[in-house]
Amino acid sequence: MDEAPKKLDELIALGDAFLARSKIPNARVVSELLAARLFKCGRLELYRYASTVPDARIVDALRRGLQRVAKGEPVQYVLGQWDFRKLTLKVDRRALIPRPETEQLVDLVLKSPQVKSAAKPLVVDVGTGAGCIILSLAGELRDGVFVGLDISPEALSLAKENAAFVGLQERVLFADSDGCGEFDPASVDVLVSNPPYIPSHVVDGLEPHIREHEPRLALDGGADGLDVYRTLLLDAVMVLKPGGGLFLEIGNDQGPAMREMLEEYGFTEVEIVKDYSGKDRFAVATQSV
Ligand SMILES: C[S@@+](CC[C@H](N)C(=O)[O-])C[C@H]1O[C@@H](n2cnc3c(N)ncnc32)[C@H](O)[C@@H]1O
Repeated sequence: MDEAPKKLDELIALGDAFLARSKIPNARVVSELLAARLFKCGRLELYRYASTVPDARIVDALRRGLQRVAKGEPVQYVLGQWDFRKLTLKVDRRALIPRPETEQLVDLVLKSPQVKSAAKPLVVDVGTGAGCIILSLAGELRDGVFVGLDISPEALSLAKENAAFVGLQERVLFADSDGCGEFDPASVDVLVSNPPYIPSHVVDGLEPHIREHEPRLALDGGADGLDVYRTLLLDAVMVLKPGGGLFLEIGNDQGPAMREMLEEYGFTEVEIVKDYSGKDRFAVATQSV
């Protein structure tokens, strides 16, 4: 960018061109998102400031943000915040960036008979990451006991910060755990999880903005991507109440294998649910009575 004072819309256009030259997808949107963060407004409200000449500190902050994105850092980490359902959450390298498809996993839980029938369901989220699933459920359900578990202390520290950030620290408990086998047998109403499910060799070939910035522990599901599910399903058999609900996010090619595993572990009403782009993305099942 040259140094002559520029109006915001000109800066955004320059940012767009700069990112496009670095082959960043959706360069215009990214440039607008960075500008909106600095103006503390929504992207669609930027038009109000289009003719404003931002002061030098804002221009400098925008330049630094654009440079980080151009070098491959996900825009979400540069912004430090990202929206998930009704919440704005902090996001950084400690945990996976919440993905839009995971919002649908929350819907599946909200519509489930398990949360509708229990007065105060015990809801457990395994691999909570930034806390997006369990915080959304606690925010959108009137009553319940909500627990988020993760094997990563870094992710848990972010999830706890997020609970305070959205004012739900009194309603959600977070704990360090590999799986969820430490609950009492047959005590959990709903088990929800978006575990790492990408096969290791596929993680190695992911785009650099994911592979080099998001935690490998959040992505890598072992040789066939199913490692964490294998132990998680055993835990689920132990801790879910009869009739309790299991809600999993899965890879788009894992539907048949997941159905087979769930049936093998004795779950009933197994359903593979597609995401809004028509791909297998979730598995829902009930603990046999
Ligand atoms: C795909 S990320 C999902 C994060 C968040 N729930 C979301 O949907 O954005 C998977 C998370 O599972 C955690 N994890 C991996 N293996 C685990 C295990 N054995 N037990 C508990 N958490 C695990 C990772 O640290 C990571 O935070």
